[in-house]
Amino acid sequence: MRKGILTIAAVGLLATGGLTACGDDSGSDKPSSTKTPKIGVILPDSKSSARWETADRRFLEEAFKAANVKYDIQNAQNDKSAFQTIADQMITSGVTALMIVNLDSGTGKAVLDKAKSQGVATIDYDRLTLGGSAQYYVSFDNETVGKLQGEGLAKCLTEKNAKNPVVAYLNGSPTDNNATLFKAGYDSVLKPKFDAKEYVKGPEDSVPEWDNTQAATIFEQQLTKANGRIDGVLAANDGLGNAAISILKKNKLNGKVPVTGQDASTEGLQNILAGDQCMTVYKAVREEAKAASDLAIALAKGEKKDTGQTVKDPEGGRDVPSVLLTPKAIYKDNIKDVIADGYVTKEEVCTAAYAKACTEAGIS
Ligand code: BGC
Repeated sequence: MRKGILTIAAVGLLATGGLTACGDDSGSDKPSSTKTPKIGVILPDSKSSARWETADRRFLEEAFKAANVKYDIQNAQNDKSAFQTIADQMITSGVTALMIVNLDSGTGKAVLDKAKSQGVATIDYDRLTLGGSAQYYVSFDNETVGKLQGEGLAKCLTEKNAKNPVVAYLNGSPTDNNATLFKAGYDSVLKPKFDAKEYVKGPEDSVPEWDNTQAATIFEQQLTKANGRIDGVLAANDGLGNAAISILKKNKLNGKVPVTGQDASTEGLQNILAGDQCMTVYKAVREEAKAASDLAIALAKGEKKDTGQTVKDPEGGRDVPSVLLTPKAIYKDNIKDVIADGYVTKEEVCTAAYAKACTEAGIS
């Protein structure tokens, strides 16, 4: 799996122009090593998680500006045909690298294959496109994300002295490979407890497209199905967690039933401060954006960096060169770390309603 630190791709060796930039080369079929880097990014939507617009866009811009490269960041707003149109426009406009967060593997693969056929370098950003052709995959260790959620829920259930708690699952989108990995992670912690009859497996549903509104309806149905007895909710991200909390509130169960999350969103952190959410998982998106930006720039110069790690694409059977960053569990007492990292500001989180809780949590 481990190779040298930096290898020059064949295309870079063949190119006569070396690594020098040569102005506007839109539509040219020159090898990528002679092109001025221009990076296109397609974000998936702005509703399944606040992160895409509030963190990813911001930190990608920060990384591209620091590297002084041209870029174009667009959001497909959960529309698969818009996703393809944006990709086509970016390719026509002469991007040297395309970074995508796919809406599903099928449409993601079509976009990656087309880019590849036009000599555009490709990166799977955050979500692996199964059966795809991206040259790199940059994300977090997503199974560990799920493991932290499972451990977090277990910790909060212990703190509540829950006896044989019924645990409901709100999984992420069935078309997102990350959702599969998150579930593998939390199952690794919770399944042994179900098997040992320490916990009781309650209702489980996947939320199509991570739709937060649908998640509330789904959770309400789960609560009805369980005759009101759900003692813990494994929600795959903060948006789904907030949907469950809204229904728990309606039933005066908020604060009694621990709920997990992910993304350290302002809303998620506030729900933790209020005692309605057990934990979230912080992923330092600044590092993810920087790693992806570095790779995209290297590819544009015809260089091929060795990331020292690969991930097996279970569908395509490919070992995809990858960067996998480390996620961190966040509880009330370390929310301050997320703020100190510049991911969210104290002003955003500690509004009047949360001021007292912020002080108690040592956020100064
Ligand atoms: C990301 C999560 C995000 C979810 C919904 C996943 O692929 O890894 O951070 O909450 O998509 O957008």
